Amino acid sequence: MYQILANSWNGLTNGNGHINSAFRNITISHIADEYVNAYTVVLRKIGFNEQQLVFFTDYRSPKVSQISSHNRLTVCGYNPATQIQLIFKGVATIHYRDEVAQHNWKVEGYKGQKSYLAKPAPSTAIEQPDDGLSYLASPQSNGDTPDGYENFAVVVIDVKQMEYLKLSPTGNRRAQFTLQPSGAWQGTWLIP
Ligand SMILES: Cc1cc2nc3c(=O)[nH]c(=O)nc-3n(C[C@H](O)[C@H](O)[C@H](O)COP(=O)(O)O)c2cc1C
Repeated sequence: MYQILANSWNGLTNGNGHINSAFRNITISHIADEYVNAYTVVLRKIGFNEQQLVFFTDYRSPKVSQISSHNRLTVCGYNPATQIQLIFKGVATIHYRDEVAQHNWKVEGYKGQKSYLAKPAPSTAIEQPDDGLSYLASPQSNGDTPDGYENFAVVVIDVKQMEYLKLSPTGNRRAQFTLQPSGAWQGTWLIP
């Protein structure tokens, strides 16, 4: 069954370090204020050895303060081609204006960097749907965007548990793997 664990992590990428398109857009959920929050993000990086999932966000987004208060995240993805659902549970760390943010800012590239130039901040109520989007026409949008870096945050999730579910007409298979204090994963089959 431990092959499933390795295959699941490997299946998040195409084997070349690029995220498999099925898992590129994943659902994040965590405790927020009045309701549990759930939203889609682009999965940027994974690490089997590091056991981490990484996404980028705007530091000013409400989700950042929510994660700061409730850093236990659940991540859900589904690959329709293989009919495999993966659910990860872990503890998030927000990187802002540190080495991790600096490194990933370059990875983001000019095209993505401009997303962090919005004024006012994400989730601010506006009168017209395109209010606050004038930054898209700013000269900075076509090159390095130092102001964007001021809003750029990297969320790193240290995964503590992973659940695998494969749908099959001959019998669904479900397994759960929990990270032990020793660093080893302990797996068990579950009734699907
Ligand atoms: C396909 C897709 C990918 C997205 N990727 C990201 C992402 O990588 N980071 C992010 O912060 N928001 C991303 N979003 C937007 C979030 O789902 C969410 O709507 C937004 O971040 C608002 O968050 P807030 O409530 O904290 O302001 C994505 C949305 C979609 C539909």
